[in-house]
Amino acid sequence: MTVKSLSLKGRRVVLRADYNVPVLNGKVLDDERITASLDTLKYIISRGPRKITIISHLGRPKSFDKTLSLRPVAELLAKKLRKKVSFRALEDELASPSKSGLVLLENIRFFHEEKENSSSFSKSLASLGDVFVNDAFATMHRKHASNYGISKYIKPAIGLLVQKELSHLDLSKAKRPLVIIMGGSKLSTKLTFIKSFISKADKVLLGGAMIFTFYRALGFDVGKSLYEPDFVNSAAKLLKSEKIVLPSDVLVSRSLGAPVAIKYVDCKKIPKQHYGVDLGYRTLLDFVKIISDSKTVVWNGPLGIYEVEDFRVSSEDIALFLSALSSKTIVGGGDTAWLVRSMGLTRKFDFVSTGGGATLQFLANGTLPFLELARKR
Ligand code: 3PG
Repeated sequence: MTVKSLSLKGRRVVLRADYNVPVLNGKVLDDERITASLDTLKYIISRGPRKITIISHLGRPKSFDKTLSLRPVAELLAKKLRKKVSFRALEDELASPSKSGLVLLENIRFFHEEKENSSSFSKSLASLGDVFVNDAFATMHRKHASNYGISKYIKPAIGLLVQKELSHLDLSKAKRPLVIIMGGSKLSTKLTFIKSFISKADKVLLGGAMIFTFYRALGFDVGKSLYEPDFVNSAAKLLKSEKIVLPSDVLVSRSLGAPVAIKYVDCKKIPKQHYGVDLGYRTLLDFVKIISDSKTVVWNGPLGIYEVEDFRVSSEDIALFLSALSSKTIVGGGDTAWLVRSMGLTRKFDFVSTGGGATLQFLANGTLPFLELARKR
């Protein structure tokens, strides 16, 4: 069920949004997720509801933490909507509910009951509305009270952002050849996704520090590069698939945090005192050749240490190349989306997902815990 199939006039709407955005000293540093929520909000407002209560989390607090307050988001949202947004504590809203208007509740993760998916807490959240719209795509892989638990008490509908995410990220409908570019530092956290992508895509191009675990599986020396000894066997198994493409050269540095004695080397010749920090140019040419033959490209995860300017060259080059490609291009994952945004390239991609873990999980499994629950309700 989508927000458009709900009757909203005169009703109290609870909207779960994902406003988990970077905030520093009371300022929102990246407002992409707030902007992405506006279509649904404007649609709901246009249908004349009595009241809209928005719920979101910010960060991973264990209890109240002033630096993780959603107040700056409420202020920015009011500016973007040109409407009053009341910012309220959940306790106050439950004790004396606002009669009408737009309310943003304080960070829902200030309550441990949120992550515990507590039934009584979910029920109290549900009492704030007659209808529930979940537009927090980026949180749909979590079984928390404000997205999952609440859906047991009010039948959920998905918002317009979620609809858009689902239609772009559905790999079963992707035009072939489909190429997936995967970065990431740890193979342990990407293993199940890579397995799934081998079955879904035509090629899986790998980058990020996880490549060193694969190199170890091939018996190459990786110098001081980070790798996971416990996952070398898993890497060896994955390498049996011809779909996996490993970088053939890398950039190495004597320091992980700055370019010291940097040079490009063959993947079999990583020097003992060096760390692998980015992909090499020969690899970029190999990747570009494979990508050029594709009809759909999905990119998740920076290819080198993107936090260091000199080590994000391959990620920036791939971003530039993809931005000019006529194939369908999709970017997912917080860091990759940030990189594309910081280069001013967002509009040149067919779709930049607002999700991180949720995007990866949906790409790999074609569903998410909330979607499964919503389907059954
Ligand atoms: C995200 O930023 O990926 C979502 O907001 C989920 O946040 P979490 O990983 O802290 O649950």
